[in-house]
Parts: sequence; structure tokens; C-alpha cells
Amino acid sequence: MPALTLSQLLFSQGFGTRRECEALIRAGRVYIDDAAVMDAAAEVDTRGLQFSVDGVCWPYHARAVVALNKPAGYECSQKPSHHPSVLSLLPPPLRARGVQPVGRLDADSTGLLLLTDDGALIHRLTSPRRHVRKVYQVLCAAPVSAAQIALLEAGVVLRDDPQPVRAQDVQAVGERTLLLTLTEGKYHQVKRMLAAAGNHVAQLHRLRFGAFDLPADLAPGQWCWVSPEQIAA
Ligand code: URA
Repeated sequence: MPALTLSQLLFSQGFGTRRECEALIRAGRVYIDDAAVMDAAAEVDTRGLQFSVDGVCWPYHARAVVALNKPAGYECSQKPSHHPSVLSLLPPPLRARGVQPVGRLDADSTGLLLLTDDGALIHRLTSPRRHVRKVYQVLCAAPVSAAQIALLEAGVVLRDDPQPVRAQDVQAVGERTLLLTLTEGKYHQVKRMLAAAGNHVAQLHRLRFGAFDLPADLAPGQWCWVSPEQIAA
């Protein structure tokens, strides 16, 4: 049985130092099954566990994986320079667990950003050898021509990279709007590819990362838990 003491459990889920977790428990602020548990050494079965702290319900996750609908005006860096960090949109326990963005979106880009405290998962999802697909909705400054689409599909050469980079799929869904699927994650890749094809990105929104779609009901700035199964798929 995957059992932890209650204080170990709270500590693992980002609720402070061991002492702070014990203090939360002793103060009657931690509930399991609608009852306060005030014994920090009580063993809890973590399978399917939900607990609440100060009335906020938390599911137990050995590893945290969350999806954020990133608004514009946030940086993916932990030490942002011009805008607040995306981490400021997450509650303190997730930040304390050390979740980090899986890859990056530019400050002016929006949409799906996965974050996790699982370093191996970050590596799996961002390793160039894995070719994990990312789907972007790209609003271009000028109407997109068939020649530009052909270039994006055939491969364009970016300034600091002799190897052409190509989109795995390009679909025009409007005069100025494309759905672009990439399997790499180079710096400013979409913007640089569109510039190399003779257009310009006006807005960039990520819809999908690997098998995971941005949930339609996740408002900008909101986050949700993602299960290991959703990511593994
Ligand atoms: N490509 C870009 O140019 N910017 C992003 O934010 C993501 C991919």
C-alpha cells in the first residue's frame, strides 16, 4: 500500500517545510474525508486520495503535471525580465513543488503550456529525438499564399541554422490563419519560419502538445491537472 504519514504527504505536495506541514495539521486545517486529521504521524493511503487544506481540495499526485492556458504578457522563465512569470499563475503548493514549463512559449504567445515537476517527463517531451508534435494556430499579418504554405512544408532555412526546418503539417483555416504542426522546438521557430516564408506572425496560440489538447473550457490564465494517461497517449 503506498502509505505516507500525513506530514510527509503534505510536504511532498508542496505545503511547506516539514515543520510548517506539522503545524497545519495540528491546527486542524487539514481534512480527509470531511474530517480534520490532527495527527501528523497518521498513515494515509495515497491511492485516489483527496485532501483539503483550509477548505481547498487537492488530489494527491506523486508527480504534478498541469496544463495552463497561457495568456499573453507572461514569460516562461523562472527569472523573468519584462513580464511576470507564468509560475505566478499557479497556486503556491505547485510552485513549491518546483513545477517548470515543458518547453517555452514567447511572452506574447498564448495557449497550451504544460508544466511539471517530473524532470524525466520534461526530457521526454522536449528531446529533439522524440519529435513530439505541437500544433499552433497562427494568425499572419498578411494573407497566406499557396507558395508560402508550400515553402513551410518543403522547409525554410533559418538564419543561424543551415539545416532547413519544415512543418509536419500546414492547413490554411482562413485567409490569414494557419494550423501549423511542428515536431521540433527551436527558438522562436514559428515566427522565424513565417518570416523566412515571407509573412509575419501577428498572433500565436498553441492548441496541442503531443496527444494533449488545450481543454476548450480552460480560460486564459487558468490551469488544470493532467493525468499521466493523458500525457502517455
Ligand atoms: N514558436 C514561436 O515563434 N514562438 C512560440 O512562442 C512558440 C513557437
